[in-house]
Order: sequence, then C-alpha cells, then structure tokens
Amino acid sequence: MVDTPSPKQAAGIAAAQLVQTGMKLGLGTGTTVAFFLEALAERIEKENLEVIGVSTSVQTAELAEKLGIPISDLEEYPALDLVVDGADEVDPEFRLIKGGGGALLREKIVAAASAKVAIIIGTGKRVERLGTTFLLPVEIIPFGYVTTRDCVANASGSTPYLRTTEEGQPFVTDNGNYILDCKFEQGIANAEQLHADLSQIPGVAEVGLFLNLCDIVFEGQDDGQVITLNR
Ligand code: A5P
Repeated sequence: MVDTPSPKQAAGIAAAQLVQTGMKLGLGTGTTVAFFLEALAERIEKENLEVIGVSTSVQTAELAEKLGIPISDLEEYPALDLVVDGADEVDPEFRLIKGGGGALLREKIVAAASAKVAIIIGTGKRVERLGTTFLLPVEIIPFGYVTTRDCVANASGSTPYLRTTEEGQPFVTDNGNYILDCKFEQGIANAEQLHADLSQIPGVAEVGLFLNLCDIVFEGQDDGQVITLNR
C-alpha cells in the first residue's frame, strides 16, 4: 500500500513535474521545498534529467548536494527558467508573504531572475488579506537596527519584533543580516504601498512581500490531492 503524501509533500511532487531537462532551476527554502528537492532528485536519477540548481539558502544548497542535485550560482546562470519555493501566506491576487525561514532576500533575487515562479504550499496558507495569520518578515542590516526598527514601525503602523534564536541572540540570515517580524493588527491593507514605504527606509535590505512575482500555486490537500492555481 502506498502512503498518502502529506499536503506539503504532495505539492512538492506536483511542482517537480514542471521540470524539464536542460532547465536552470531556482531552489527555494523551507520544509515544503525539501519535498520538492526529494521528488526532483528522484526524477534526475530515474529519467536522467540534466538540470542545474541555484539555491536560495545555505540550508537548501546542503540538502541539494546531499540529494545529488547539481548546484551552481547566479554568476554562472544569471537567468533561470523556473524557481520552486514555499510561502507563508498567499492571497487571491497571488501576492505572497515569505521569509518564515529567513531566506527572503535571496529568494526574491532568485524569483526575479526566473522566467516562471511556482509556489508550493500545504493547507492553511491561503488568506483573504496578507498579514492576518503570519507576521511580515523584513530583513535589515545590523548597523543601527534599533533606529531601523523604529522607522519600520512608524512607516508601517505595525509592531516589529527582532527575530531571535532559542538562545535569545538575534537570528542572523545567510547574508549576515537581522529579521524584523512585523505584526499588523488588522492585516495589511495596501501591500503595494507598504512595500514601497518600507523599501525606502535606510537599513532595510528586503521586505517579505512578494508582489507580482508568483505565476502558479500548488496547494497540497489532506487527502494527497493538489489544487493548482494559475495566475
Ligand atoms: C523561507 O525564508 C520562506 O520564505 C519559506 O519559503 C516559507 O517560510 C515557507 O516555509 P515552509 O515551506 O517551511 O512552510
């Protein structure tokens, strides 16, 4: 008997079907992407697919290497065919909140470099309004971070919390930066305006709002089926 895949696993398997030989692939970060990488590695082995992956994090690069997925970088391949990544929230306009795993800056660079952006999610991540179930991650540089945090609070009307490790130290991204997780009491009313306002603040490296970047969503279900949403 074959086990029913979990929702995240089902989404990862579905997205692996988009891959064709010769593709340059962006590899996202997170628990859902881990399932995609496993499914991709299986296809590479069984079908002799020739692909090159560009990773969005050290964590993903290590896992890809373990699974035998060839890895390169944007210097070698500045333009990619497809990126497969997770998300923390997806709204009806295909706008996303990302950065729960702290990889948002590289994820956005890789998404912008990709001809197609596929998002894989389990259940419970589709929302009517962004910022209602998840805090908005904002990557900031460590220098002057208290000042930057206060500017983020003033510009957004949110309460920003500095992300910390279990030891109580600031969480440090692969880029050596910090993360503010911003709480919006009523959710995010105007994502485009918020993105523009936050991006202007000195010290803000990237905002975890992915607007106009997502082309297709695979949402795994509890019964192992997958809902596909095309933008
Ligand atoms: C990483 O920084 C994030 O953007 C992830 O893609 C996002 O948090 C989804 O993660 P999971 O697939 O682990 O839920």
